Amino acid sequence: MIDISKIYSILLSEVKREAPFTPKLGIVLGSGLGDFAKSLQIIKTIDTEKLSDYPKSTVEGHSGKIHFAKYSDLPILLFQGRVHFYEGYKIEECLLPIEIVKSLNCKYLLLTNAAGGINPFFSPGDLMLNKSFNSIFIKKEITKVIGAASSTTKENFKKFPSEELNQIIKKSALEEKVDLKEGTYFFTSGPSYETPSEIKMISKVGGDAVGMSTVHEAIYAAYRGINVSAISCITNLAAGISDTKLSHEEVTQTAEKVKNKFERLIKRIIATIEY
Ligand code: HPA
Repeated sequence: MIDISKIYSILLSEVKREAPFTPKLGIVLGSGLGDFAKSLQIIKTIDTEKLSDYPKSTVEGHSGKIHFAKYSDLPILLFQGRVHFYEGYKIEECLLPIEIVKSLNCKYLLLTNAAGGINPFFSPGDLMLNKSFNSIFIKKEITKVIGAASSTTKENFKKFPSEELNQIIKKSALEEKVDLKEGTYFFTSGPSYETPSEIKMISKVGGDAVGMSTVHEAIYAAYRGINVSAISCITNLAAGISDTKLSHEEVTQTAEKVKNKFERLIKRIIATIEY
Protein backbone atom coordinates (compact mmCIF):
# COMPACT_ATOMS: atom_id res chain seq x y z
CA MET A 1 0.00 0.00 0.00
CA ILE A 2 1.29 3.48 -0.88
CA ASP A 3 1.15 6.04 1.94
CA ILE A 4 0.83 9.37 0.09
CA SER A 5 1.11 11.50 3.22
CA LYS A 6 4.53 9.96 3.97
CA ILE A 7 5.85 10.45 0.41
CA TYR A 8 4.79 14.09 0.34
CA SER A 9 5.34 15.03 4.00
CA ILE A 10 7.66 17.95 3.06
CA LEU A 11 5.27 19.32 0.45
CA LEU A 12 2.26 18.94 2.77
CA SER A 13 4.02 20.86 5.52
CA GLU A 14 4.95 23.59 3.00
CA VAL A 15 1.26 23.99 2.09
CA LYS A 16 0.21 23.97 5.76
CA ARG A 17 2.74 26.67 6.52
CA GLU A 18 1.37 28.87 3.71
CA ALA A 19 -2.32 28.30 4.56
CA PRO A 20 -3.97 31.51 5.82
CA PHE A 21 -6.97 29.58 7.20
CA THR A 22 -8.57 26.15 7.53
CA PRO A 23 -10.72 25.73 4.45
CA LYS A 24 -14.15 24.18 4.80
CA LEU A 25 -14.61 23.27 1.14
CA GLY A 26 -12.08 22.15 -1.46
CA ILE A 27 -12.92 22.51 -5.16
CA VAL A 28 -11.00 20.95 -8.04
CA LEU A 29 -11.67 22.84 -11.28
CA GLY A 30 -11.68 20.71 -14.42
CA SER A 31 -10.95 21.48 -18.08
CA GLY A 32 -12.20 24.90 -19.12
CA LEU A 33 -13.62 25.61 -15.64
CA GLY A 34 -10.47 27.10 -14.12
CA ASP A 35 -11.65 30.68 -14.64
CA PHE A 36 -14.10 30.27 -11.76
CA ALA A 37 -11.27 31.22 -9.42
CA LYS A 38 -11.48 34.80 -10.73
CA SER A 39 -15.04 35.21 -9.45
CA LEU A 40 -14.06 34.66 -5.80
CA GLN A 41 -12.17 36.78 -3.32
CA ILE A 42 -8.67 35.33 -3.48
CA ILE A 43 -6.86 35.60 -0.16
CA LYS A 44 -3.68 33.78 -1.11
CA THR A 45 -2.34 31.88 -4.09
CA ILE A 46 0.29 29.17 -4.05
CA ASP A 47 2.12 28.63 -7.29
CA THR A 48 2.60 24.88 -7.27
CA GLU A 49 5.85 25.24 -9.25
CA LYS A 50 7.35 26.52 -6.01
CA LEU A 51 6.32 23.43 -4.03
CA SER A 52 8.72 20.49 -3.78
CA ASP A 53 7.75 17.74 -6.22
CA TYR A 54 4.30 19.06 -7.16
CA PRO A 55 3.34 17.49 -10.54
CA LYS A 56 2.92 19.96 -13.40
CA SER A 57 -0.08 19.65 -15.72
CA THR A 58 0.74 19.45 -19.42
CA VAL A 59 -2.85 20.17 -20.47
CA GLU A 60 -3.90 23.63 -21.65
CA GLY A 61 -6.10 25.47 -19.16
CA HIS A 62 -4.82 23.59 -16.09
CA SER A 63 -2.74 26.35 -14.54
CA GLY A 64 -1.66 24.42 -11.45
CA LYS A 65 -2.43 27.20 -8.97
CA ILE A 66 -3.83 26.60 -5.52
CA HIS A 67 -5.96 29.45 -4.21
CA PHE A 68 -7.19 30.13 -0.72
CA ALA A 69 -10.38 32.08 -1.33
CA LYS A 70 -13.58 33.27 0.30
CA TYR A 71 -17.13 33.56 -0.86
CA SER A 72 -20.11 34.25 1.36
CA ASP A 73 -17.65 34.03 4.29
CA LEU A 74 -16.86 30.38 3.54
CA PRO A 75 -13.12 29.59 3.45
CA ILE A 76 -12.37 27.65 0.28
CA LEU A 77 -9.39 25.85 -1.21
CA LEU A 78 -9.39 25.95 -5.01
CA PHE A 79 -7.29 23.83 -7.31
CA GLN A 80 -7.10 25.51 -10.69
CA GLY A 81 -6.61 22.43 -12.82
CA ARG A 82 -5.36 18.93 -12.09
CA VAL A 83 -2.92 16.34 -13.40
CA HIS A 84 -4.22 13.25 -15.14
CA PHE A 85 -3.09 9.67 -15.15
CA TYR A 86 -2.72 9.84 -18.96
CA GLU A 87 -0.05 12.53 -18.60
CA GLY A 88 2.20 9.78 -17.31
CA TYR A 89 1.91 10.66 -13.64
CA LYS A 90 1.79 8.05 -10.92
CA ILE A 91 -1.44 7.54 -9.05
CA GLU A 92 -0.01 9.14 -5.89
CA GLU A 93 0.84 12.28 -7.90
CA CYS A 94 -2.73 12.45 -9.29
CA LEU A 95 -4.07 12.12 -5.74
CA LEU A 96 -1.85 14.75 -4.18
CA PRO A 97 -4.51 17.53 -4.23
CA ILE A 98 -6.85 15.23 -2.29
CA GLU A 99 -4.13 14.58 0.28
CA ILE A 100 -3.65 18.36 0.60
CA VAL A 101 -7.40 18.75 1.23
CA LYS A 102 -7.12 16.09 3.93
CA SER A 103 -4.02 17.57 5.53
CA LEU A 104 -5.80 20.94 5.87
CA ASN A 105 -8.78 19.26 7.59
CA CYS A 106 -11.20 20.33 4.90
CA LYS A 107 -14.65 18.83 5.47
CA TYR A 108 -16.10 18.87 1.95
CA LEU A 109 -14.64 18.33 -1.50
CA LEU A 110 -16.33 19.17 -4.78
CA LEU A 111 -14.70 17.71 -7.88
CA THR A 112 -15.57 19.11 -11.30
CA ASN A 113 -14.71 17.81 -14.72
CA ALA A 114 -15.42 18.09 -18.42
CA ALA A 115 -17.01 14.95 -19.82
CA GLY A 116 -18.43 13.47 -22.99
CA GLY A 117 -22.17 12.83 -22.89
CA ILE A 118 -23.42 9.31 -23.59
CA ASN A 119 -26.96 9.38 -22.15
CA PRO A 120 -29.26 10.25 -25.11
CA PHE A 121 -31.06 12.84 -22.97
CA PHE A 122 -27.86 14.86 -22.48
CA SER A 123 -26.70 17.78 -24.64
CA PRO A 124 -23.43 19.73 -24.68
CA GLY A 125 -23.66 22.41 -22.00
CA ASP A 126 -25.57 20.25 -19.52
CA LEU A 127 -24.32 19.78 -15.98
CA MET A 128 -24.46 16.30 -14.42
CA LEU A 129 -24.24 15.37 -10.77
CA ASN A 130 -22.10 12.23 -10.55
CA LYS A 131 -24.50 9.93 -8.72
CA SER A 132 -22.19 7.00 -9.27
CA PHE A 133 -18.73 6.27 -10.64
CA ASN A 134 -17.26 3.47 -12.68
CA SER A 135 -13.59 2.90 -11.83
CA ILE A 136 -13.10 -0.42 -13.57
CA PHE A 137 -10.29 0.91 -15.82
CA ILE A 138 -8.28 2.36 -12.93
CA LYS A 139 -9.19 -0.01 -10.11
CA LYS A 140 -5.76 -1.66 -9.97
CA GLU A 141 -4.09 1.72 -9.40
CA ILE A 142 -6.58 2.74 -6.72
CA THR A 143 -6.03 -0.54 -4.89
CA LYS A 144 -2.28 0.20 -4.75
CA VAL A 145 -3.06 3.24 -2.62
CA ILE A 146 -6.00 2.08 -0.58
CA GLY A 147 -5.11 -1.57 -0.09
CA ALA A 148 -7.44 -4.07 1.51
CA ALA A 149 -10.55 -2.55 3.04
CA SER A 150 -10.23 -1.98 6.77
CA SER A 151 -13.24 -1.39 9.00
CA THR A 152 -12.61 2.40 8.79
CA THR A 153 -12.49 2.32 5.00
CA LYS A 154 -15.71 0.32 4.91
CA GLU A 155 -17.42 2.88 7.14
CA ASN A 156 -16.12 5.78 5.01
CA PHE A 157 -17.36 4.17 1.80
CA LYS A 158 -20.90 3.95 3.17
CA LYS A 159 -20.93 7.75 2.77
CA PHE A 160 -19.69 7.75 -0.83
CA PRO A 161 -20.50 9.92 -2.71
CA SER A 162 -21.57 12.26 0.07
CA GLU A 163 -25.35 12.25 0.36
CA GLU A 164 -25.10 15.39 2.48
CA LEU A 165 -23.15 17.28 -0.19
CA ASN A 166 -25.29 15.84 -3.02
CA GLN A 167 -28.41 17.19 -1.28
CA ILE A 168 -26.79 20.63 -0.98
CA ILE A 169 -25.91 20.51 -4.70
CA LYS A 170 -29.43 19.47 -5.74
CA LYS A 171 -31.06 22.11 -3.55
CA SER A 172 -28.71 24.75 -4.96
CA ALA A 173 -29.54 23.71 -8.54
CA LEU A 174 -33.27 24.01 -7.81
CA GLU A 175 -32.83 27.45 -6.28
CA GLU A 176 -30.71 28.64 -9.20
CA LYS A 177 -33.08 27.02 -11.71
CA VAL A 178 -30.20 25.02 -13.15
CA ASP A 179 -31.36 21.83 -14.85
CA LEU A 180 -28.95 19.44 -13.14
CA LYS A 181 -28.84 16.00 -14.75
CA GLU A 182 -27.76 12.96 -12.76
CA GLY A 183 -25.82 9.93 -13.87
CA THR A 184 -22.82 7.64 -13.73
CA TYR A 185 -19.38 9.01 -14.62
CA PHE A 186 -17.27 6.39 -16.37
CA PHE A 187 -13.46 6.66 -16.26
CA THR A 188 -11.35 5.98 -19.32
CA SER A 189 -7.58 6.25 -19.26
CA GLY A 190 -7.05 8.43 -22.36
CA PRO A 191 -5.01 10.23 -23.55
CA SER A 192 -7.01 10.01 -26.77
CA TYR A 193 -10.78 10.22 -26.79
CA GLU A 194 -12.66 6.94 -26.90
CA THR A 195 -13.61 5.12 -30.08
CA PRO A 196 -17.31 4.82 -31.04
CA SER A 197 -17.10 1.12 -30.20
CA GLU A 198 -15.78 1.86 -26.69
CA ILE A 199 -18.59 4.34 -26.14
CA LYS A 200 -21.14 1.73 -27.25
CA MET A 201 -19.75 -0.66 -24.65
CA ILE A 202 -19.71 1.98 -21.89
CA SER A 203 -23.29 2.91 -22.74
CA LYS A 204 -24.34 -0.76 -22.39
CA VAL A 205 -22.85 -0.99 -18.89
CA GLY A 206 -24.65 2.12 -17.69
CA GLY A 207 -22.19 4.99 -18.27
CA ASP A 208 -23.97 8.32 -18.74
CA ALA A 209 -20.83 10.42 -19.22
CA VAL A 210 -17.19 9.62 -19.86
CA GLY A 211 -14.00 11.32 -18.79
CA MET A 212 -10.36 10.86 -17.83
CA SER A 213 -10.27 12.08 -14.24
CA THR A 214 -12.26 12.33 -11.00
CA VAL A 215 -13.07 8.68 -10.18
CA HIS A 216 -9.80 7.89 -8.38
CA GLU A 217 -9.89 11.31 -6.69
CA ALA A 218 -13.44 10.71 -5.42
CA ILE A 219 -12.67 7.20 -4.17
CA TYR A 220 -9.47 8.32 -2.45
CA ALA A 221 -11.24 11.30 -0.84
CA ALA A 222 -13.94 8.99 0.53
CA TYR A 223 -11.24 6.63 1.82
CA ARG A 224 -9.66 9.60 3.65
CA GLY A 225 -13.02 10.42 5.25
CA ILE A 226 -13.79 13.56 3.21
CA ASN A 227 -17.39 14.33 2.15
CA VAL A 228 -16.96 14.22 -1.61
CA SER A 229 -19.26 14.86 -4.59
CA ALA A 230 -18.62 15.58 -8.26
CA ILE A 231 -20.24 17.54 -11.07
CA SER A 232 -19.53 17.03 -14.79
CA CYS A 233 -19.87 19.64 -17.46
CA ILE A 234 -21.00 17.79 -20.58
CA THR A 235 -18.79 19.54 -23.10
CA ASN A 236 -19.46 17.32 -26.13
CA LEU A 237 -21.33 14.24 -27.22
CA ALA A 238 -19.08 11.20 -26.79
CA ALA A 239 -17.42 9.58 -29.82
CA GLY A 240 -19.82 8.08 -32.35
CA ILE A 241 -22.89 9.75 -30.84
CA SER A 242 -22.52 12.73 -33.13
CA ASP A 243 -20.70 12.99 -36.47
CA THR A 244 -18.34 15.77 -35.39
CA LYS A 245 -14.75 14.93 -34.57
CA LEU A 246 -13.93 15.50 -30.91
CA SER A 247 -11.36 18.10 -29.97
CA HIS A 248 -10.01 19.82 -26.88
CA GLU A 249 -11.19 23.13 -28.47
CA GLU A 250 -14.79 21.92 -28.44
CA VAL A 251 -14.38 21.00 -24.77
CA THR A 252 -13.03 24.41 -23.79
CA GLN A 253 -15.50 26.29 -26.03
CA THR A 254 -18.52 24.57 -24.45
CA ALA A 255 -17.08 25.06 -20.97
CA GLU A 256 -16.77 28.77 -21.79
CA LYS A 257 -20.44 28.91 -22.83
CA VAL A 258 -21.53 27.15 -19.62
CA LYS A 259 -19.38 29.39 -17.43
CA ASN A 260 -22.18 31.59 -16.08
CA LYS A 261 -24.50 28.71 -15.22
CA PHE A 262 -21.66 26.79 -13.64
CA GLU A 263 -20.53 29.81 -11.59
CA ARG A 264 -24.05 30.48 -10.34
CA LEU A 265 -24.46 26.87 -9.23
CA ILE A 266 -21.10 26.64 -7.48
CA LYS A 267 -21.60 29.97 -5.74
CA ARG A 268 -25.00 28.85 -4.48
CA ILE A 269 -23.48 25.58 -3.24
CA ILE A 270 -20.81 27.56 -1.37
CA ALA A 271 -23.42 29.89 0.13
CA THR A 272 -25.50 26.90 1.27
CA ILE A 273 -22.69 25.17 3.13
CA GLU A 274 -22.79 26.15 6.76
CA TYR A 275 -19.62 27.54 8.19
N1 HPA B 1 -14.15 11.65 -23.48
C1 HPA B 1 -13.25 11.67 -22.47
N2 HPA B 1 -12.96 12.75 -21.76
C2 HPA B 1 -13.60 13.89 -22.08
C3 HPA B 1 -14.54 13.95 -23.13
C4 HPA B 1 -14.83 12.77 -23.87
O1 HPA B 1 -15.66 12.75 -24.79
N3 HPA B 1 -14.98 15.23 -23.17
C5 HPA B 1 -14.33 15.92 -22.20
N4 HPA B 1 -13.49 15.11 -21.53
